Amino acid sequence: MDFDLNEDVQMVRDMTRDFADGDLIPRATQHDREGTISKEVFEKIAELGLWGLTIPEQFGGAGLGNEALTAALIELNRGCAATGVTLSVHNSLVGAPINKWGTDEQKAQWLPQLATGEIIGSYCLTEANAGSDAAAVQTSAVRDGDGWVMNGTKLWVTNGGWAGVFLVYARTNPDVSKAKGMSCFIVPKDTPGVRVGKTELKAGIRGSSTTEVVFENVKLPASAVLGEVDSGFKVAMDTLDGGRIGIASQAVGIGRACLEASIKYAGEREQFGRPIGHFQAIQWKIADMASRLDAAELLCFRAAWLRDRQRPCTREAAQAKLTASLAANFAADECLQIHGGFGYTDHSHVERLFRDARITEIYEGATDIQRLVIARNLMG
Ligand code: CAA
Repeated sequence: MDFDLNEDVQMVRDMTRDFADGDLIPRATQHDREGTISKEVFEKIAELGLWGLTIPEQFGGAGLGNEALTAALIELNRGCAATGVTLSVHNSLVGAPINKWGTDEQKAQWLPQLATGEIIGSYCLTEANAGSDAAAVQTSAVRDGDGWVMNGTKLWVTNGGWAGVFLVYARTNPDVSKAKGMSCFIVPKDTPGVRVGKTELKAGIRGSSTTEVVFENVKLPASAVLGEVDSGFKVAMDTLDGGRIGIASQAVGIGRACLEASIKYAGEREQFGRPIGHFQAIQWKIADMASRLDAAELLCFRAAWLRDRQRPCTREAAQAKLTASLAANFAADECLQIHGGFGYTDHSHVERLFRDARITEIYEGATDIQRLVIARNLMG
């Protein structure tokens, strides 16, 4: 067994670590307060080739895999979780499925633009009545000659306000069981009838864009379908296997930021005549945070390693997300406790980390959905 990252992955990790230290950490509070990501950060992501990290070289990407994406997302989210999720969704929920399920024409049309960040990608699955029960989507696409007409509203769409293209999951056959009658459509933002609705004000990851997206009599050609007609649920679920590794990596990154802040503060803050890090109560918190985060990181790389080899990783991705999101929230809670009143106020970035960590237990499948996926996989 080899725990060394290969040369390419190490290079990506070092590059994103420098980017996080130099550009993201100094801007993360600004992103949080202003509710957006700065133009400079968007440009630097393009300059570093991160929009196309997992897009094949023939389409202008870096042609790297999920191991590299995991390494990058841990570092980026250590710096700014709003930036981290933007990139995770773009790569794993949009670039990856177009590359996996797309026709030659679809790949040639979309991957080069996604690789440079000329357009940002977004994944539209969730609706008012289809959250954890993802197969319950009511957005419909009805046949219209050779093409389709789509109607419906998607909620909590990450990158909604910035996207140039949406992957939209819609019901195409109401006469079969829920999961069997869905299809995935590639919908350009400028298609008539597509409207970006309300922007959500969130507890955390405030710099990222989360919106409603409305589809009103949107006419789409037959060539807009990604994968087979009526097989969209499998595209959605398979895509989420990859996406969950991304969110697990995000959680590890946020947790690492909490651990670093805690170690630093424990060495500086004095009470009862000595740095609080001299007290065992604080040392045990640090030891538990580090151990849970290391376990989570190993699960992330195991799932990424499997996915890069086209091996099944549904359970492993869910285990990574379950473990990492719990570890991140544990680390954020302990970090805030170590920082006390200072951590609870906007005097430090600790209260932001606490808010940012919480979403990792919610999106791309809530904690109990990960447990359900793992248990079904083990028990049938
Ligand atoms: N890969 C491929 N196919 C899969 C699959 C996977 N990982 N998981 C399930 N399928 C297939 C099954 O094999 C089955 O196919 P057959 O009928 O041919 O056997 C079909 O899909 C239906 O599967 P289930 O019976 O397991 O479906 P279900 O209705 O019981 O749902 C679920 C399963 C796991 C609960 C699923 O609904 C789920 O994952 N829910 C959570 C939704 C979610 O994660 N949403 C995230 C939104 S996106 C987001 O959050 C992005 C963001 O903002 C950052």
